[in-house]
Amino acid sequence: MTRYDRYSMPPAEETAELTALAAELVERKFKQFGYPFDQGVAMTAYNKWLVDTGLADITLINVGDPWKKDWDMLSSDVIERKVLDFWAKHYGFEDNYWGVITNGGTDGNMHGIYFGRKLLERETGIMPILYVSEEAHYSVKKLADVQNIEECVVRASPAGRMDTEDLEAKLDPSRPALIVIAVGGTFKSAIDDQEAVSAVVERVGPCAVYRHVDMALMGGYLPFLDDPLARSVVDVRKMRFDSLAVSGHKFIALNEPCGMFICKREVLEKTRSAPIPYLADKVIPTISCSRSGFAALKMYWRIAVTTEEGFRRQAKHVLKMTEYLRRRLEDTALFTLVNPFANTVCFTRPADRIVHEYALACNQTAEFGCLAHVVVMQYFTEELIDRFIDDMISSTV
Ligand SMILES: Cc1ncc(COP(=O)(O)O)c(C=O)c1O
Repeated sequence: MTRYDRYSMPPAEETAELTALAAELVERKFKQFGYPFDQGVAMTAYNKWLVDTGLADITLINVGDPWKKDWDMLSSDVIERKVLDFWAKHYGFEDNYWGVITNGGTDGNMHGIYFGRKLLERETGIMPILYVSEEAHYSVKKLADVQNIEECVVRASPAGRMDTEDLEAKLDPSRPALIVIAVGGTFKSAIDDQEAVSAVVERVGPCAVYRHVDMALMGGYLPFLDDPLARSVVDVRKMRFDSLAVSGHKFIALNEPCGMFICKREVLEKTRSAPIPYLADKVIPTISCSRSGFAALKMYWRIAVTTEEGFRRQAKHVLKMTEYLRRRLEDTALFTLVNPFANTVCFTRPADRIVHEYALACNQTAEFGCLAHVVVMQYFTEELIDRFIDDMISSTV
């Protein structure tokens, strides 16, 4: 075998370097409190199955519409459709939807903004204005920039919700409105009030409106909560949004970036583009050409091993642990902020050692000073939280 044989291990030195990094990553995996990734992903059986089936040694790329026909290239379209069916049903769509597994949350937002802009422009011949709250994920603002859309940043309440009075003051009735709704905001995890947004839209009456919902993290668990109010937030029949983006590597617990973009079928139909000759003359609705075909397999695997009941249990567990963490922090006399249905606990920024050791995310806020947050995921237990609190206390003495 040569040094460059693809089936061999790297030479000893490189292997040792990689193994040292692996040991460090595995050792620190349960101290990643500031970011919404489930470290209990348990992908060993999936990875073994890839090896057993030979899929570990193929390249698998999905392109364009997962419902396309007469496609010769390898793909996992058939599984991608099943995954999208599962989630679309949980967001209240029936057969009247279209979607795609994306490369992540930003990619989902990119498609929402792209489709929204195209649809509004085609319907009115006027470029829309994109409205988004200052607490929404930064990707929305960046994407408005990339797509050259005029952006209007709407103020948020101290708890992080879009201030709909400010929206009303800023909404321009003469231009189409592309409204991006945060379910929830990145730092405080507040859910924008979609009914209040709709009431503003009714009163001001812009010439056309498109609503895209960024539900990167919460879209994974809100459909599984008992409270009908929580479920209604992500239900297209109740909230009448046009499209949504959700992340696959947050609550849905995949171990690398992916997500979903789902929209009303009429959005796809109204924004049709020209066919691409080199791709079997297919109309390719997506922006990026290639996306992971393995993401669909992994997502399907995740759904099958978790089951609906499992997602319900995990959603309950996450909110129970969130409440436990909030209570333990309040016991130590710290300020806390937890929004309704959120699994994010904001609290007074602790000592630097804790911030770095637990990879906490921090933010300076006008109302509450400097805060840190913990995003409580499936791997959290009372023991883990107790250890964190003990560490915090010992870092202050
Ligand atoms: C609310 C929200 N939207 C979008 C994103 C971007 O997702 P991604 O990192 O997958 O691009 C994030 C990431 O944390 C997020 O919290």
